[in-house]
Amino acid sequence: MKILITGGAGFIGSNLAKRLVKEGHTVVVLDSLLRGNKLDKWTFSKIKFVKGDVRSRKLVDECSEGCDVIFHFAAVLGVDIVADNPVETMDVEVVGTRNVVEAAEKNNVKFVLYASTSGIYSHSAIVKNALTEEVLVDPRTSYAMAKRYNEIYLASHHEERNLNVISLRFFNVYGWNQDNRMVVPRFFEQALENEDITVFGTGNQTRDFTYIDDTVEACFRLMGIEGCHIINIANEAEWCITDLANEIKFITGSSSKLTYIEAPKKRYDYEVERRVGSSEKLFELTNYKPLTNLKSGLEQIFQINYAEKINA
Ligand SMILES: NC(=O)c1ccc[n+]([C@@H]2O[C@H](COP(=O)([O-])OP(=O)(O)OC[C@H]3O[C@@H](n4cnc5c(N)ncnc54)[C@H](O)[C@@H]3O)[C@@H](O)[C@H]2O)c1
Repeated sequence: MKILITGGAGFIGSNLAKRLVKEGHTVVVLDSLLRGNKLDKWTFSKIKFVKGDVRSRKLVDECSEGCDVIFHFAAVLGVDIVADNPVETMDVEVVGTRNVVEAAEKNNVKFVLYASTSGIYSHSAIVKNALTEEVLVDPRTSYAMAKRYNEIYLASHHEERNLNVISLRFFNVYGWNQDNRMVVPRFFEQALENEDITVFGTGNQTRDFTYIDDTVEACFRLMGIEGCHIINIANEAEWCITDLANEIKFITGSSSKLTYIEAPKKRYDYEVERRVGSSEKLFELTNYKPLTNLKSGLEQIFQINYAEKINA
């Protein structure tokens, strides 16, 4: 198949591009390189790379010509960056998704898989053990509101134009080659420097961390599924931030101390006490759910990202 990945030079997109190339697909990546280029040399040499903005209708049209599938991952993200740039965040989401949908129709692309977020659950109550896709969502930030808007927008295109759409609600994806906008690489960097590991709030807040390889596997298996779906991609395990920090300390052999600081005001809307997702729906559709536990995922990224540098 021929597949376009918008935001394909980013953390998740670059890993997905590598997998799709290995499986023999033709891959086009459209990315503005806002966050640099995370595609490795081998993958870069096998894809068609287009540097540009997903808000350009002309570029999205050109890049999706002849494609069977579009993974639409281009986005502005990272809590501090989004909080400082709410208008641009929404603009990239809304205009980018409109362009993807219009281009899909023009070029007869049958499947669009869109990167939504578990952030849209916000303070939604966790029913039974985990958040399911049926829970009433509660988006409060520009980022989460735009993601929810796009989920609904895509669903309407399925109704009206029969486009096959899947909104992927990612739960804290972590792994190789992620940058320190996110908590896992930030803690690794602090631990390796034996600096204080800074935790916002009490450290008792929980998240569900999903390993990158599992995330890519889920995306890969969902490609080509017909209909209109919203799917959690979650590890179904609840970890508090203090335990995450201690685990990273242990793996790196660090002497860092954990320090607890009040979150800056601009982060308030992003702070939720608990978040853990159910991947039951993913399993029903694909017979697969993310299985890598956090300890083993952290150990793997330590070996890939940092251990070689330490031993060099
Ligand atoms: N990483 C996570 O834990 C997580 C969680 C929930 C949702 N998501 C979503 O998954 C997707 C991928 O996230 P990621 O972690 O790989 O982030 P990332 O920042 O590494 O990748 C996003 C990519 O989009 C590109 N981009 C930004 N604005 C653009 C524009 N206007 N035009 C073209 N390209 C542009 C960036 O250059 C970057 O390469 C995003 O849509 C994100 O919102 C990620």
